Amino acid sequence: MMLSMGIIGMGKMAASHAEWIIAHKDLNLIAVCDLNKERVDQAKAKYSVEGFTDVNELLAKEGLDYVVIVTPNTVHEELAVNALEKKINVIVEKPMSLNYDSAMRMVQAAEKNKRNLFVHQSSRWDRDFQLVKETIASGQIGDLLQIQSRVFLCDEGWPSWGIDGMSNPWRIKAQYGGGMLLDWGPHLVDQMLVLMGKEPTAVFGVLQSGVWSKEVDDYFNAILRFEGDVVFQIEVSNNGRIPAARWHIIGSKGTLEVKGRHEPVWEDAEIVFDRPNGKTERHNIHLVDVCESGLEGGFYQDLVLYHEGKKQSFVSMYEAAKVMKVLDLIRNSNNERQVLLYNGH
Ligand SMILES: NC(=O)c1ccc[n+]([C@@H]2O[C@H](COP(=O)([O-])OP(=O)(O)OC[C@H]3O[C@@H](n4cnc5c(N)ncnc54)[C@H](O)[C@@H]3O)[C@@H](O)[C@H]2O)c1
Repeated sequence: MMLSMGIIGMGKMAASHAEWIIAHKDLNLIAVCDLNKERVDQAKAKYSVEGFTDVNELLAKEGLDYVVIVTPNTVHEELAVNALEKKINVIVEKPMSLNYDSAMRMVQAAEKNKRNLFVHQSSRWDRDFQLVKETIASGQIGDLLQIQSRVFLCDEGWPSWGIDGMSNPWRIKAQYGGGMLLDWGPHLVDQMLVLMGKEPTAVFGVLQSGVWSKEVDDYFNAILRFEGDVVFQIEVSNNGRIPAARWHIIGSKGTLEVKGRHEPVWEDAEIVFDRPNGKTERHNIHLVDVCESGLEGGFYQDLVLYHEGKKQSFVSMYEAAKVMKVLDLIRNSNNERQVLLYNGH
C-alpha cells in the first residue's frame, strides 16, 4: 500500500510532517504548497517534490490521497473544506479550527464527500501520556479522584514559534487564532477526553492575558467536573517561571506524578500506592527523551495501520470536534464568569 501525500503550509511544523512522511515506507510526499514562494522553492529542492503557491493547483494533482494542513489556525476550515469538496482526504493540524461550529462544518464536508478527516492530535503519542494512560488502566492507583494536567513554561520562543520568528509572532495575535487555549488547549483537552472516555458534565474556565499579549490568552485554567464528582484540572501558562509537575493524579489507591528535571522535558514519573497489607510502595520510572509534544511520527505509523485495516479506530473527526466544544466552553465560561454545563450548550 502506498498513500500519496501533499502538505499545505510549509512553515516550522511542516518540516516535521515532511520528515515523518518521508521516513515511512508506505507514504509518498509528492507535492507541497505555501503562499510564500521562497518556502515552496526551498521545499521543492529539499524533498524533490512539486510545489505550488496556489492551493487549487495542488488539489488538482492526480492521485493525491491526503493533504496535510499545517497553516495558522484561521485557515484550517477553509482549506480542509476545499480539499474535501475535491474528494481528497485531509489531515489537519491541531486546533482542528477556531471553534466547534467551524469544526462541525468540516465534519459535514467530510461526511458529504465520504472522505477521511483526521486531526493531528499528536500528544496522544507522547510517552508521558502513554504512561499515564497505562497506569490508570492497570488499576494500580484505583479509581480516579483528581487529575491535574499542567504545562507551566516561561518560554521566550512561544510567541515566535513559527517560520517567521519574531517578525511574525502569530501565536500572540487574535487574527491568526493565537493564544494558549488554542495552542496547548487542544493537546490537553484531547488527552483528558481519551483518559476519561466521556465528556465532562460542567466546565469553569479562566483566561488571562498577563504578559505576552493583550489580544489573546497567555494563561488559562479550566476545572472540569465529571460524573461521580471526579475533577480534572487543565492549567497552562507561559508565565510560569517555576515549573509545575506535568501530571499529578490522585486515585483511591495511589498517586502518580510526572515531572522533569529540565522542564519542559518531563522524564521522571513517580507512582506511590498502597498495598493491601497497608504498606506504601514507591515506583520511580525514567522516561527517555520525553519532550513537550509527541513529535515522533507515531501518528503516521497508526494512519498506515488504519488504512491496512490493522487498527480499528484512529483520531476521529468526531472526537476532535468534541475537543473544540470543550475549548469553546472554557472560553465562554471565562467570558460569562460562570460555570457552564456541557450539555447545556
Ligand atoms: N501538533 C503539534 O504539536 C503542533 C506543534 C506546532 C504547531 N502545530 C500547528 O501547526 C500549524 C502551523 O504552525 P507553525 O508553527 O508551523 O506555523 P508557521 O508560521 O511556521 O507556518 C505556517 C505556514 O503556513 C503558510 N500559510 C499561511 N496561510 C496559508 C494558506 N492559506 N495557504 C498555504 N500556506 C499558508 C505560511 O506562509 C507559513 O509558511 C498550526 O495550526 C499549529 O497549531 C502543531
